[in-house]
Amino acid sequence: MIDKMGRDITYLRISLTDKCNLRCRYCMPEEGVCKRSHHEMMNEDEVVTAVEVAASLGIRKIRLTGGEPLVKKNILSICRRVSAVEGIQEVCLTTNGILLPALGRELRRAGVNRVNLSLDTLDRAKYAYITRIGKLEQFRAGLKAAMEAGFDKVKINAVLIGGFNDDEIEALANLTMEYPVDMRFIELMPIQDHDEFGQEAYVPYSKVLEKLPQAIPVEHDGGVAKLYRLPGAKGNIGLISPISAHFCGECNRLRLTADGKLKPCLHAPDEYSIRGLDRDGMKAVFEQAIWNKPAWHGDLDALHRSQAGRNMNEIGG
Ligand code: GTP
Ligand code: 5AD
Ligand code: SF4
Repeated sequence: MIDKMGRDITYLRISLTDKCNLRCRYCMPEEGVCKRSHHEMMNEDEVVTAVEVAASLGIRKIRLTGGEPLVKKNILSICRRVSAVEGIQEVCLTTNGILLPALGRELRRAGVNRVNLSLDTLDRAKYAYITRIGKLEQFRAGLKAAMEAGFDKVKINAVLIGGFNDDEIEALANLTMEYPVDMRFIELMPIQDHDEFGQEAYVPYSKVLEKLPQAIPVEHDGGVAKLYRLPGAKGNIGLISPISAHFCGECNRLRLTADGKLKPCLHAPDEYSIRGLDRDGMKAVFEQAIWNKPAWHGDLDALHRSQAGRNMNEIGG
């Protein structure tokens, strides 16, 4: 379906839970999430109905996110059912990878085409710091499992944080020499509770190119990242620049939160509830949310915080 700015909305990101087995500092508070009763959250049938309605309106790609989607007990069943919906061409997952050794192959069999993993540092102490509770060895095991599960593609996301990992740009980029993965650097987005990051943490994507002068531009894959490649690499370098060069004009995304709110823009406060609605009711709300998708997300930087009104773990990126 086309929104009122003429953008074709074909990609739905569904946050299945706001819970996570890590606590990344730019994403969620240390204490985790408040307990919410089951009836406040979308159940499996509602998620599948939402996907069917979305597909009838032209959504072709689904990404399951969180929090951490793999902590959901019924994740395999959700993947199986979502990937079977007519019109859905691709089912992707964004995960911290920790549970992939147990679930990787099963997810592939359940119809997941691709996974994106989150990794901000290759240093054990820094990984423990940024995730508050994670161990780098667990990520490494998850990456190995992702490589062995036979997904169409594996991408790794690093949030670029000045003073924390801007000295590791080359080392992270070199993962593309070692593995057939895309390594993507994402500009830090100032959202909700993260006032521990000062101005110096907001590093523009151009810093990555300064550190990788040998990177050659390559063709765009339809995603939000500008793509480059190191000579001889097995995968691409991606640069995602929501701050220094926003991509709202080409945005094809709609988001659904775990508590059943459609968010037409990651950084806008607008939310449209679909919880408790039947198929026709959901369809009308989807149409309204898509049509009214904001033109752009407004200024974002250390001084202009996101208007999303939620932490990232409650939206799913
Ligand atoms: P692909 O399907 O592989 O292209 O993945 P993706 O980039 O759509 O998904 P992923 O979950 O890996 O997201 C990567 C980063 O891009 C996250 O930090 C998201 O918050 C950010 N991102 C994705 N879509 C948008 C968007 O519409 N606006 C902004 N500002 N950031 C976005
Ligand atoms: N800014 C940029 N990226 C973020 N992510 C989570 N919070 C933020 C933030 N504040 C990233 C995660 C994950 C992706 C879905 O979003 O690292 O890879
Ligand atoms: Fe969990 Fe991902 Fe948020 Fe880290 S960024 S706390 S792994 S949802």
